[in-house]
Order: sequence, then C-alpha cells, then structure tokens
Amino acid sequence: MKALILVGGFGTRLRPLTLSVPKPLVEFANKPMILHQIEALKAIGVTEVVLAINYQPEVMLNFLKEFEAKLGITITCSQETEPLGTAGPLALARDKLVDGSGEPFFVLNSDVISEYPLKEMIEFHKAHGGEASIMVTKVDEPSKYGVVVMEESTGRVERFVEKPKIFVGNKINAGIYLLNPSVLDRIELRPTSIEKEVFPNIAGDKNLFAMVLPGFWMDIGQPRDYITGLRLYLDSLRKRSSSKLATGPHIVGNVLVDETAKIGEGCLIGPDVAIGPGCVVESGVRLSRCTVMRGVRIKKHACISSSIIGWHSTVGQWARVENMTILGEDVHVCDEIYSNGGVVLPHKEIKSSILKPEIVM
Ligand code: GDD
Ligand code: MG
Repeated sequence: MKALILVGGFGTRLRPLTLSVPKPLVEFANKPMILHQIEALKAIGVTEVVLAINYQPEVMLNFLKEFEAKLGITITCSQETEPLGTAGPLALARDKLVDGSGEPFFVLNSDVISEYPLKEMIEFHKAHGGEASIMVTKVDEPSKYGVVVMEESTGRVERFVEKPKIFVGNKINAGIYLLNPSVLDRIELRPTSIEKEVFPNIAGDKNLFAMVLPGFWMDIGQPRDYITGLRLYLDSLRKRSSSKLATGPHIVGNVLVDETAKIGEGCLIGPDVAIGPGCVVESGVRLSRCTVMRGVRIKKHACISSSIIGWHSTVGQWARVENMTILGEDVHVCDEIYSNGGVVLPHKEIKSSILKPEIVM
C-alpha cells in the first residue's frame, strides 16, 4: 500500500521554528512531526511513502534517509517547481501512486497529530464502497478548517466547505484521506485545492464518505495548537504506553524526557512537558506546558510555562518565560529576564524583558 504526505507550504504560522527546518521536521514530543505519521503508516503495512514537497527537498530527504533503513520503508520525493496546493501534488505524483492494483492510497496533511486509526479507516473504506474516505473530528472553532456535513448513519458527505465564514457544522476535515486511484482522474496538473475543488466534486457525486476519528486530534501548525496538541498526545501516551513517560518526585502529570537530557536537583517539571536530547536543566527549574528542543540549557531557578524553546537556546538564571513565548534556534535569554509572549527569531540575545507579546527580530 502507498501513501502521500503533503509537506509543502512554508509553515509561516510556526515561525520562528520553521526558519530553521521545514515544518514536518519540527519535533513534536521529541520526534519530527512527519515521523509520527510515517511510523503509523508503516505499522499498517504501507511500503512506500511519497513526500509531496515544494521547497528544500534535500533537507528533508537527507534527514529521512536514516529512517528509511531503520523503518524498512521506501521514502521518495515528488517535487513541485511551483506550489501546486493540496490537490495538484497528487496529479504530479500520479505514476508513483498508481501501480495497476486498483488499491486505494492514503493522503495525509503533514501537520496533524492523532492516534492515526488507519486500519479502521481501511475497513470503513471497504464497507462503504465509495471513491474516497476522509476522517473528521469535532472542534469548537470550525471556521479555520474544512467543515463536513454528513449523513450520520452512513457517513455519506453532503457538503464540504473549506474555511466557512458562517457556521455550517462542527465536524471538520482532519487531513487524513484514503482515496481510490480514480480520484486522480478528477485532478488536473495545476495549482488546485483538494478541499475547494476535489472534495465538493466527489461529494456532489455522492461518493465521498467521512469517518468520525476516534481519539484525539490536533493540527499542530500553530504555536498555541502545538502546545495543546502536546497535552492531548501525552494523555493518549499515558493510556497506550505509560512506561515512556518520566516518573519521580520532581515530575507532575505527563512529561517526556529524552534519556540523554540531564535534570538537576530540586526541579519541578510538568504537566505536559517534552525535553529533547542533550538538554541540561539546572537545579531548581520549574517547567510546565512547554517543549524544550534538543541541546537547550536552562539555568538555575528559571521558570518556563506555555512556551517552546528552540534548539540550542539558553534560558538564564531566574528568568521567567511564559504565555506562548517561542524562542527560535540558538536564542540566549539573559539572567533574570521576563518574556511574556515574545516570539524571538534565531540567533538573538535577549538582554531586556519582553513585557507584552511581540516579535523580536
Ligand atoms: N506539496 C504541497 N504543495 N503541499 C502543500 C501545499 C503546496 O502547494 N500547500 C499546502 N501544503 C500542505 C501543508 O504542508 C499541509 O501539510 C497541508 O498541505 C495542508 O495545508 P495547511 O496550510 O496546513 O492547511 P490548513 O491547516 O489551513 O487546512 C487544512 O488542514 C485542516 C486540518 O488541519 C485543510 O485540509 C482543512 O480542510 C483541514 O480541516
Ligand atoms: Mg494545517
């Protein structure tokens, strides 16, 4: 079975992290986002993953080569010379996706995180016999997603409305699809949107079916959702394999600590924290609802909450970093500094406090 992951887009909403690496390679719970997906695909028998990409394919492929061998899965790139949107890349990769077997293939947005119930999706797809299946999930704020109106009993999609201005419903497209090869006959090789052009079309032919996704879901392409997503992911990890979570008197709730990270005396860590490889957390540090990427040093008595600390940054002694502060790669926050929602570009030194949410260039 084959799969295509849409890895284009510039990831602007996840800057400054995406100034250092393409969005799918930004770590989430100590693992690049895209690896969560590739592992889930591998687990249900996918043998070849096509990355539909429109910039920096070398960075992505170099990185993934290592995992190709480790996971025993073929990873290839299909590169656009201009961004083809969310459907055009499928037409471009047509020859890679179709092998004459008639078998359906998966398509995934690269920034969604869930328990990936892909086996269940295959069964659902076989049972309804239509052309395409999509996963949907309920959200409180549907306007920033693709909204799906479906017949509850059968799952047949009646309407698909991308980013509706007025309320249509609260079930939204989760960005996980299983498509018959015939769907490719509906897509031209040009910049085009699967949400605006292809799905409404298939729904019009009564051939699009939606399955309500069991378990949690989040699009982690924006900082606030990334932090919420980590909480949901760690809750789910607690239920599935709690042995991966940290334990001890200094841990509160769900915390993931890479085995190469060092934690000092008298820290209090959690809930909902991920600490990456090679990090040094000095004594007396307080961390909650945050991600600390590879190679970060957090000095004594610093306090970090609801924030993301980019690769190889340092946070000084007694510093207080909170409220969606996002530090890019290699940022240095001096001792006793306060950051309230600062979004700091890579390679900066922060010598004075950031009192209100702002971008620091
Ligand atoms: N190859 C390629 N080329 N990929 C692209 C391009 C492109 O030109 N443009 C976007 N993508 C990829 C993104 O990298 C992402 O993985 C996926 O397509 C969706 O793009 P986003 O920019 O993340 O879209 P969104 O989050 O606003 O909306 C989409 O996702 C929602 C769920 O998270 C839509 O599919 C919505 O319907 C859906 O609800
Ligand atoms: Mg998205």
